Amino acid sequence: MNILLIGSGGREHALAKSLKLSNKCENLFIAPGNAGTAQCGTNLMAEVTDFAQIAALCTLHKIDMLVVGPEEPLVKGIVGFLQQKPELKNMIIIGPADDAAQLEGSKAFAKIFMKNHGIPTAAYKKFTRENYDAGVDYIKNHSLPIVLKADGLAGGKGVVICQTHIEAISEFELMLIKSKYGEAGKKVVIEEFLEGIEMSVFVLTDGENYILLPEAKDYKRIGEADTGPNTGGMGAVSPVPFFDDTLKEQVNQKIIRPTIEGIKKDGLQYKGFLFFGLMITPKGPYVIEYNCRMGDPETEVVIPRIKNDLVDLLLATYNKQLSHVKLQIKEEQAVAIVAVSGGYPGIYEKGKIIHNLDDMMIDNSIIYHAGTKNDNGKIVTNGGRVLVVSSFADTIEEAAFKSNYILQHIYFEGMNYRSDIGYEFKN
Ligand code: AMP
Ligand code: GLY
Repeated sequence: MNILLIGSGGREHALAKSLKLSNKCENLFIAPGNAGTAQCGTNLMAEVTDFAQIAALCTLHKIDMLVVGPEEPLVKGIVGFLQQKPELKNMIIIGPADDAAQLEGSKAFAKIFMKNHGIPTAAYKKFTRENYDAGVDYIKNHSLPIVLKADGLAGGKGVVICQTHIEAISEFELMLIKSKYGEAGKKVVIEEFLEGIEMSVFVLTDGENYILLPEAKDYKRIGEADTGPNTGGMGAVSPVPFFDDTLKEQVNQKIIRPTIEGIKKDGLQYKGFLFFGLMITPKGPYVIEYNCRMGDPETEVVIPRIKNDLVDLLLATYNKQLSHVKLQIKEEQAVAIVAVSGGYPGIYEKGKIIHNLDDMMIDNSIIYHAGTKNDNGKIVTNGGRVLVVSSFADTIEEAAFKSNYILQHIYFEGMNYRSDIGYEFKN
């Protein structure tokens, strides 16, 4: 098969490596990819939201299967766009259609969906400019802290947790009246703050059945011990030690099954990865958010733990054969640590040469590229998150030690990473 993978992050490098391992994959293309994906297949220049360009690439390279990594093209409707092209009607597309992708693309949509299908989530109300004053009153009477969320995609920055009513009203005004998040903030969801521990679970679903993939815990804050601003993710561990059989059963029963049934009942077209951001509270698991794709850096610990052929899994998803699939998972602990550019998640520079990459290939560790590119034979930084080092071992300590060891020997100007990933699980 000829496979085209859309995206350019560490997630896509991890997916590309697994796709390439399949003997069903003849030619792998990645658009636009990074310096790491170029070692797994052929990078193609493309904008992930230029659907006409992607359709042309699919035709040119006789693509049999298209896998969409990031959320933006999904939420903007890449699946529907490509399905309408007669010349691409036989192409297998992995990713939800536009309407189903709104589970991530609109927080208000996701909230109504959860309410309709009895899925535990924080209590909320939605506001727009039209009922701004009612929103201010709602905030004044709300318990603290208060969570404000821009409705649309805001690159992981659209959620603000406010400790005072004054702060919340000022943030509410910034979002709705001063258009802080542009279109994404035209609707605002105000919700109750949930106390608990966060974790992520992932499924592959064909819209009727699903398989539960390995779970993960992501470390979102820039600073050690979970301090400082939020990022796209500074590291991840999988498996998650507290995700025992009892919790897994609760998550399956209360959250995943009703979600998949809801997708079916609502007639949403979903063939792909679905990511559940959960808060495990004293009252059980709650959904914080849905994402219509895999997580990054969670993919870099989840996908390498799967022993099955990834192309087979995606074919089973497309052909609605998931009920026949038995997932085989490596027992090892995986720890991923992300190396980021100086200044990230704020302003950062690009084009810094990355040193010692080739010297640091060691057993049971993988260096995934995220924001990198090949600049006349030199690998240079090309984004906020630059590299993701995943290691596999019997314990979290050992795996974390290996990823840290590798990053201690790689260098680019301004490089920063968290050396404490998995800290709460270490003895
Ligand atoms: P999101 O962009 O929806 O993933 O939210 C970003 C982060 O905000 C989450 O990872 C949580 O840490 C936090 N968060 C979002 N909603 C809530 C909530 N209702 N209660 C507590 N924390 C939340
Ligand atoms: N690491 C969180 C995400 O991919 O949304």
